[in-house]
Amino acid sequence: MEERSQLEKLMKVSELKEPKPTILKVGGSVITDKNKELDAKTQVMNRLAEEIQQAKIENLVVVHGGGGFGHPTAQKYNIKAGLKEENQKVGFAETHHIMTMLNGLFMDAFMWHKIPAVSVTPSSCIITENGRIQYFEYTLMKMLLQMDFLPVLYGDAVLDTKLGFTILSGDQLISRLAVGLNAERIIVGVDVDGLYNCDPKAEKNAKLFAHLTLEELKKLQKKTVKPTACDVTGGMFGKIAELIPAIEHGISAKIVNATKPNHIYKVLKGEDVQGTLIEKE
Ligand SMILES: Nc1ncnc2c1ncn2[C@@H]1O[C@H](COP(=O)(O)OP(=O)(O)O)[C@@H](O)[C@H]1O
Ligand SMILES: [Mg+2]
Repeated sequence: MEERSQLEKLMKVSELKEPKPTILKVGGSVITDKNKELDAKTQVMNRLAEEIQQAKIENLVVVHGGGGFGHPTAQKYNIKAGLKEENQKVGFAETHHIMTMLNGLFMDAFMWHKIPAVSVTPSSCIITENGRIQYFEYTLMKMLLQMDFLPVLYGDAVLDTKLGFTILSGDQLISRLAVGLNAERIIVGVDVDGLYNCDPKAEKNAKLFAHLTLEELKKLQKKTVKPTACDVTGGMFGKIAELIPAIEHGISAKIVNATKPNHIYKVLKGEDVQGTLIEKE
């Protein structure tokens, strides 16, 4: 704790300037093919970088998921459950490395669009306890925001005080960042049009919710959203569970389809776009 305040003093980090931050999650389902290993959608990354560049949003933080990069490797070595056998260590290293590779590809797209994006590696500034963020040094990230950089984080393999190591989802990260930075809003880009009454990929008559209050979301949560097999962090089910604390905090969340051109641009600009808006009341 003391070290942290010393760092804050050193960096002269006080409150962030207005407007309040926007936290944008770009799902692994958007920038990779989750049914294949190591299949990055670089054209989609480029389009998203262009939309982000065009929107010119101040105080923006981007977090991306693991998709067909992080999840299969994490699953192969059972990283989420923690350190049980020595040979998992190479799996931990591999999961982290594969995420830095995916992140590098997304960062390339930001560089091509002359966006001052800077990658912030979660495993170097976060420690979890039983899978929940316990320590998060975000002074440097706040300083990046104050200097008008765009911090980019991602779901990662991280050290854990009880488990040895585990998987930290991009979904937990956005919620925690939103509360920690007192964000205005969270935008969650996925590969479907928003939150439905059941999985729209399994049920073609699934009904999309345009707006939900926190109370409605909690009621829906258990009965309608099931974990997805190729996602070690629980798919849409995990996403909703993670969003709840941020929404309780008064931060709105909008789930949109980031595979559709201009949806991220429009939602960043506050324009009307299809999706699910979740608000406290
Ligand atoms: N009720 C639901 N509404 C919307 N999507 C759902 C629902 N239940 C399951 N899903 C699935 O959740 C997926 C998105 O979650 P996930 O695969 O974890 O995305 P990401 O990689 O972006 O984190 C969608 O592709 C969809 O098939
Ligand atoms: Mg997911």
